[in-house]
Amino acid sequence: MVFMDKNQLQYFRNIHKQHIWWPFTPMKLAKEPFFIEKGEGVYLYGYDYDGNSIQFIDAISSWWVSIYGHNCKPLKEAIKKQLDILEHVIYASMEHEPALKLAKMLSEKSNHTLSRVFYSDDGSTAMEIAAKMAYQYFQNQGLFQKKTFFVLENGYHGDTFGTMSLGARSDFHKVYEPLLFNVIHIPMSYSSEMGMFDEQLAKQELQPLLKQLDNYFEKFHKEVCGIVIEPLIQGAAGMLMYHPIVLKKIRELCDNYNIFMICDEVFTGAGRTGPYFAYEHAGIYPDILALSKGLPAGYATFAVTMCKEKVYQGFYSDNKQHTLFHGHSMTGNPIGCAISISSIELYEQLDIKNKISLIEKWHKEFLEELKQSSVNHKIKETRYFGSVAAVVVKISKEALKTFNLEVIDFSVKNGALIRPLGNILYIVPPYIIEKMELKKIYEVIFKILKEML
Ligand SMILES: Cc1ncc(COP(=O)(O)O)c(C=O)c1O
Repeated sequence: MVFMDKNQLQYFRNIHKQHIWWPFTPMKLAKEPFFIEKGEGVYLYGYDYDGNSIQFIDAISSWWVSIYGHNCKPLKEAIKKQLDILEHVIYASMEHEPALKLAKMLSEKSNHTLSRVFYSDDGSTAMEIAAKMAYQYFQNQGLFQKKTFFVLENGYHGDTFGTMSLGARSDFHKVYEPLLFNVIHIPMSYSSEMGMFDEQLAKQELQPLLKQLDNYFEKFHKEVCGIVIEPLIQGAAGMLMYHPIVLKKIRELCDNYNIFMICDEVFTGAGRTGPYFAYEHAGIYPDILALSKGLPAGYATFAVTMCKEKVYQGFYSDNKQHTLFHGHSMTGNPIGCAISISSIELYEQLDIKNKISLIEKWHKEFLEELKQSSVNHKIKETRYFGSVAAVVVKISKEALKTFNLEVIDFSVKNGALIRPLGNILYIVPPYIIEKMELKKIYEVIFKILKEML
């Protein structure tokens, strides 16, 4: 075991204590940080707070972004190459090759259905822009009453005021509630593990939801401009899953009632469930789509909002007030574009669609083993789809209070970073993961169940 120099460790700890404010973290209750020195493939390397060296698998792709793992050569090369040519230029009045090439590639990924591309910086801003597109489209048309959104219960779309408004009114964002705008929340129901793979079963399980969707659209369509959904997996809610028949139903209702279908593929896009976009499982197209996380794959903060030509045409006007008034300083950054081009090329070159099917098979096998093991009585439910898996554990309210922080600490020391969402232990691995590495993650989950619950 290698140790970090004690003086250096103390120096880092002091800076952390005096100057750092982490996201989503109750800083007073937080544990001491792990110091990460480098990453390679699915592994991260560094030191724990006592200075001992640590090595562990990034089982959550560092908040779901590092889809090709760490220190990925082609992505690094893309940055280096672009850096020597043009690092940045204002993205208005000016055009550049990486932005053009990427827009064309993304359009092709949707068979040129989502042919217009609007660049931004992260998932929240991409969703903020998606909402603005839907809302203003109808305002530009003079359909002023269409000014609210349908959202699905338990949704999560980001942390800006707009995206918080579109998300679940959970404890997470509770304090901001008085500042959020009103939307219409549609109660959700989900598929069981079997229901995700059996259409008949899914139809039975989801019948009440499909009927309810009919009712909501019938009742509120006149005031609604768009429905905002995370296709098939609601990530932040705890990897809650529903069958593609729900997407088909929403598409049908959106067509019937002149409402835009807005797919938030910030998490599910870039191949997370197999096809490049999760909506492809349903054989439909949304009208507007947000994509981030896996697109720049952890090498830049970068995002896109894509839409159908019809949406764009709603802004293409002699009236200046019909402009989409949104933009960020780093919009269309050439390096972000170059990385994203390389990441789309990797999706094809590494045959990611088939790799995700393989990971899905491994999940099935390892979850089955877990359920047949001595810790089965501590498991409430399991689910998996594409590269995503979740183990819902039985835990008391009291123990749940510290579960997240305890599990992070325990899992890293045992060889894989697991970061629970409530009582849900989930796996969102880099696509390059090998079977033995995934097995190691399941061994850590077994250990959590055995020793911590
Ligand atoms: C579905 C979804 N939408 C939007 C976001 C927000 O993205 P970002 O954190 O890049 O702002 C997330 C982040 O987890 C997400 O999962």
